[in-house]
Amino acid sequence: MKEQLEKLQQDALAQINAAEELKELQDIRVAYLGKKGSITGVLKGMGKLSPEERPVIGEVANKVRNTITDAIEEKSQKLEEIALNKQLEAEAIDVTLPGRKVQAGGPHLLTSIVEEIEDLFIGMGYEVKEGPEVETDYFNFEALNLPKDHPARDMQDSFYITNELLLRTHTSPVQARTMKEYKGEKPFKMICPGKVYRRDSDDATHSHQFTQIEGLFIDKKVRMSDLKGTLNAFAKKMFGEDRNIRMRPSFFPFTEPSVEMDISCKVCNGEGCSVCKHTGWIEILGGGMVHPKVLEMGGYDPKVYSGFAFGMGPERIAMLKYGVSDIRSFYTNDIRFLKQYHQA
Ligand code: PHE
Repeated sequence: MKEQLEKLQQDALAQINAAEELKELQDIRVAYLGKKGSITGVLKGMGKLSPEERPVIGEVANKVRNTITDAIEEKSQKLEEIALNKQLEAEAIDVTLPGRKVQAGGPHLLTSIVEEIEDLFIGMGYEVKEGPEVETDYFNFEALNLPKDHPARDMQDSFYITNELLLRTHTSPVQARTMKEYKGEKPFKMICPGKVYRRDSDDATHSHQFTQIEGLFIDKKVRMSDLKGTLNAFAKKMFGEDRNIRMRPSFFPFTEPSVEMDISCKVCNGEGCSVCKHTGWIEILGGGMVHPKVLEMGGYDPKVYSGFAFGMGPERIAMLKYGVSDIRSFYTNDIRFLKQYHQA
């Protein structure tokens, strides 16, 4: 019986040694040490032994069982380690590989130009205001000295929603709203960028929806020269120190006197070329001194306060600055167009 056990131990150890997978070790354990295993089978015959032989064989059996258990344990640890190493190797990351490039977006050209204009005016002490795009007839027209049936309403073909509500045709209603907010008491400087709408047919220079930036400065003793100085500073910062400005008389119902401002053409330096239609000048915005009636409707006493206002189209500014030839490029979101203007 002793030899039988020792033979079993030898066989088991040989099998354990040869095992390559944890599953095999499991099977070996069952085959030798399980309830129906071969060692157990041998031990079942212990009853037939003499009382002197029993403890001797019992000791041998225990030793054999422990040896096999230990060997299985040791081997399974080894196999687990091998498996772990294999896994680590398979999942290893090569940190020297070049990374995948992140496709970074950037602000839309129109957003950038609006922010650039905002920054310029914030630097001159202006606050930035917003107003609703669906506006009342009162703020869009009446409070700006455009009573119902005023012929100048034709200058701005409008999208009406009801008789009293429309999509704002310009950002000037924010002027009237801000004056109301400051209750005719507080001097202020504000600009308001935003979307505006006109019943135009879209083409290279017209869009039924576009952007405007309005500026308004109200205080005691604001003069035309203040408007000129402010817009001159703006034009030079925006288009370059070597640009000149000129103001031409114009008409807006909410300003008196009213002007349109041109900058000297960058392409020909004022000589005259096809870009400036051989005039040497390019129109960039409208403005003027706030009409006394508008001040009055806004709650400001025109005998005490005066102010200037101006309005410009950021699309037009961007078109001139970057040589964009079609206003629709701002709205069609062709990535090839937009990408050119992303600052790295
Ligand atoms: N609101 C005018 C327009 O849309 C522009 C403007 C603004 C003119 C402020 C004068 C003063 O044409």
